[in-house]
Amino acid sequence: MRLPVKRLLVTGASGFLGWNVCNLAKREWDTFGTVCSHPVEIGGVNIINTDLTDPAGLRKLFSEVRPDAVIHTAAAAKPDYCQTHKEESHKINVEAVLLIASLCADSKIPCVFTSTDLVFDGMNAPYREEDPVSPVNIYGEQKALAEEGMLKIYPDAAVCRMVLMFGVPGPASGSFIQPMLKAMHEAREIRLFTDEFRNPISARTAVDGLFTALNKVKGILHLGGRERISRYDFGRLLAEISGHKDARLTPCLQKDARQSAPRPPDVTLESSKAVSLGFNPLPLRDELEKCV
Ligand SMILES: NC(=O)c1ccc[n+]([C@@H]2O[C@H](COP(=O)([O-])OP(=O)(O)OC[C@H]3O[C@@H](n4cnc5c(N)ncnc54)[C@H](OP(=O)(O)O)[C@@H]3O)[C@@H](O)[C@H]2O)c1
Repeated sequence: MRLPVKRLLVTGASGFLGWNVCNLAKREWDTFGTVCSHPVEIGGVNIINTDLTDPAGLRKLFSEVRPDAVIHTAAAAKPDYCQTHKEESHKINVEAVLLIASLCADSKIPCVFTSTDLVFDGMNAPYREEDPVSPVNIYGEQKALAEEGMLKIYPDAAVCRMVLMFGVPGPASGSFIQPMLKAMHEAREIRLFTDEFRNPISARTAVDGLFTALNKVKGILHLGGRERISRYDFGRLLAEISGHKDARLTPCLQKDARQSAPRPPDVTLESSKAVSLGFNPLPLRDELEKCV
């Protein structure tokens, strides 16, 4: 006898990560993806248009889909936007998360929430799951509040701290490498920090980590890549792999850039807990070669 296919609700299906989650999830799950201002279509995925900041709409979504599990990726994910739109971003980055936590708790279903490495101030990397949060911008503050609220309401939820991600773009959103590749193609100058460090991964690997968390984790999990690298060295690697040997990369420092939200210098996440559960990011070069 065939077991019925379980229903997975993915919020933020029009976003970079959510789109990647949906495309992998649909192989095994009856997948429902939410969109808001970008009504994309994804073959094999049931798309639902809803604003998650509307509590009544969010409750209706859960009662209609009746999910067996939830991966919540929808967010105001741009730090500069959150810095200048504190109230609007609070609604989706904090309030919606808390309601999703209680809706998942009511039905006792697995729930994964995607947080960020930017909950840390970047002064004491590498960071472990147990380290105290110390955000330096509004986005990081909101994510830290949401993490705490999510786990208070539903301790069985998994909070995955994501790092800088790259990969194949969806129809409505891409990763930070697409504008870089475009600039390289057009021989435009790209200014990159030599003093900002991350441990990036591909969205494909990140999605594997989210499914590991969905099945095996309660509490916080770090999903970082194997290597710590500066933005500038990442640019050099990308230029080499994509065949832009004459890319005009100019090294600069964080303090040289005008950004609304301050950025922490080094938020490398120590991810051995995830690795012990089967999360297996490739060396950065290999991860990038698969995407470019
Ligand atoms: N990308 C990274 O490198 C990175 C790094 C660390 C953490 N993260 C975290 O990973 C998650 C995904 O990030 P991402 O880069 O994929 O973000 P993204 O591309 O900006 O996508 C954001 C998604 O959220 C949806 N959304 C925003 N406001 C909404 C609302 N009021 N109601 C319903 N949906 C709404 C958007 O829908 P519409 O576009 O249709 O409006 C979109 O699908 C976020 O939680 C982010 O904080 C990302």
